Amino acid sequence: MMNVAEQIRLENIADTEYEIFALLKQRYSPRTFKKESIKSRHLNQLFEAVRWSASSNNLQPWRFIYAEKGTEAYKKIYNCLSDFNKSWTDNAPVLMLTAYKEKTKDGKDNFHALHDLGLSMGSLTVQAQYLGIAVHHMAGVDWQKAQKEFNVPEGYHISTAVALGYYGGDLEDLPEDLQEQETAKRNRVSQEEFAFKETWNPKEK
Ligand SMILES: Cc1cc2nc3c(=O)[nH]c(=O)nc-3n(C[C@H](O)[C@H](O)[C@H](O)COP(=O)(O)O)c2cc1C
Repeated sequence: MMNVAEQIRLENIADTEYEIFALLKQRYSPRTFKKESIKSRHLNQLFEAVRWSASSNNLQPWRFIYAEKGTEAYKKIYNCLSDFNKSWTDNAPVLMLTAYKEKTKDGKDNFHALHDLGLSMGSLTVQAQYLGIAVHHMAGVDWQKAQKEFNVPEGYHISTAVALGYYGGDLEDLPEDLQEQETAKRNRVSQEEFAFKETWNPKEK
């Protein structure tokens, strides 16, 4: 059996300028996945990582709907995705929608809910990496349609869709243009472009 390191495509490992935690270095967003369902205890470990994330006032505003391939719910999530995302997501054994609760306990807009959902997804992503599970986040989802399909009540807002599965699969599982993208060089802006010491970067006014 291949170990996780062998399933992660070597060309996708981040070419970092400074040394970082191995799980962060190895993480990337693949569009192929091993053809194997995710063990239910691994799914529980992912949500446990979410559970212990920090959140503003400990409001824990994150919500998730997840479904395994072969179920009606999986098809419903898939049908809410953009055409581009539809072209590769059926490789994933699990599809998920993320959502957040919009208000605080006293009915005010929770300005930090999206921050908290994002932070919890960061925790989930690192925990997933530890288990050899790849997490591919997606903005390309018709959130209003998803909201209706799953009867999400007022006061909750669907944010993204996510494809999950163990790292692996073959490049041939993808349409040709995506095969190229899958192994293309990964680019990042330099630290100076977002981490400003002591003052806002005057170039970004
Ligand atoms: C909030 C969010 C939305 C994204 N939306 C999509 C999407 O709709 N489709 C897609 O293929 N990738 C999507 N991605 C993946 C990004 O394109 C990817 O994270 C970025 O190019 C950096 O690549 P890496 O994750 O492999 O480092 C999304 C990522 C995030 C965090």
